[in-house]
Amino acid sequence: MTDNNTISKFSELKTPFYYYDLNVLTSNLDNLKKETSGKDYKVHYALKANANPKILKIISSYGFGADCVSWNEVDAAIKAGFDPGKIVFAGVGKSDSEIENAVKAGIFCFNVESIPETEVIEQYAAKHNKIVNIALRINPLVDAHTHKHITTGVEESKFGIHTWELEAVMKSLSSMKHLKLIGIHFHIGSQITRMSVFQSLCTHINDIQKWFADRNIAIKVINVGGGLGIDYENPGKAPLFAEYLNLLGEFLELRPGQELHLEPGRSVIGQCGSLITKVLYIKKGSNTMFAVVDAGMTDLIRPALYQAHHKIENLSSKGTLQKYDVVGPICESSDTFARFIDLPETKRGDLLAIRSAGAYGEAMASRYNLRDLPASVFSDEL
Ligand code: LLP
Repeated sequence: MTDNNTISKFSELKTPFYYYDLNVLTSNLDNLKKETSGKDYKVHYALKANANPKILKIISSYGFGADCVSWNEVDAAIKAGFDPGKIVFAGVGKSDSEIENAVKAGIFCFNVESIPETEVIEQYAAKHNKIVNIALRINPLVDAHTHKHITTGVEESKFGIHTWELEAVMKSLSSMKHLKLIGIHFHIGSQITRMSVFQSLCTHINDIQKWFADRNIAIKVINVGGGLGIDYENPGKAPLFAEYLNLLGEFLELRPGQELHLEPGRSVIGQCGSLITKVLYIKKGSNTMFAVVDAGMTDLIRPALYQAHHKIENLSSKGTLQKYDVVGPICESSDTFARFIDLPETKRGDLLAIRSAGAYGEAMASRYNLRDLPASVFSDEL
């Protein structure tokens, strides 16, 4: 993945750490900018994928907006230079203080998930004498065909408002003088690799749009959420922004004056990051060889939580291929990064790169076992 110079610099650093290749990030951002400019398309980067301050500064410098799911994310976005007027605040359980802070900060829009939530936003908007924009997050009942923990648009999901509730929602909104309905919002899941899923989302949105049009309710913003997957088998492969946006352009029926809003997270940052870890021990099992590394599920939880596959490369060795289970030091058997994979003969002290870990890697790190949080290292600092 990297040249010998970078690898020799890695060997001077304390492991484990996240390494971010900023050329990959800026190339993704250039691409996203190119594919969305000149149209009524607005990008809100989903901070939950990676909220590292340096990364946020780079993304905000492109003029993109931010999709946040906590007040702390809204605050981090503003501190990193995102315009509050381009921040959307989503989430099924926004607390009172989070709502009040965001109302005071003058964010662009709340993506709301229930009637009780609109009542609380109305209360704080009235208190601060503001008119607050809201978009209704609607559950379009589209199966994302991805891992069950990251599927959100199915019947049993806690997310969003059902279409059969819309009548009641509109009735309740009619008495709320401080809320302005500007949009409808959808997000059906993450790491979606079948483009047909997005086509199906478009069809459902087109139907839902009719419901509003039939009642003469003007909707300016159509927010399709995030979800575009990346290729974990090929860490060098760029996200398919053009294919995705062309599909949306073709199948989503935008009405005059409507804007298309997007909330990409993983696709922006996933391929930019690798978790760099050192091999502590090679240990013989009954059928396999364990490479015990110094990174664990506390640094990258995706394999343990979603059985996610991240490609692993040995940066130090080029020997003959052998089978290994790559495991971390945490006292949990799910603390396993990969089973029975081919690596060149691996020894104590070798550096491994766990690839495609830029999204939901550092952001989901924890201090379980009182471990240190992983550090971050950037390509322009080496
Ligand atoms: N918008 C909303 C409302 C979301 O819930 C999400 C992600 C996004 C946008 C960004 O989706 P993306 O473009 O990144 O797919 N921790 C899991 C992923 C959880 C995604 C949660 N929502 C993982 O590591 O795979």
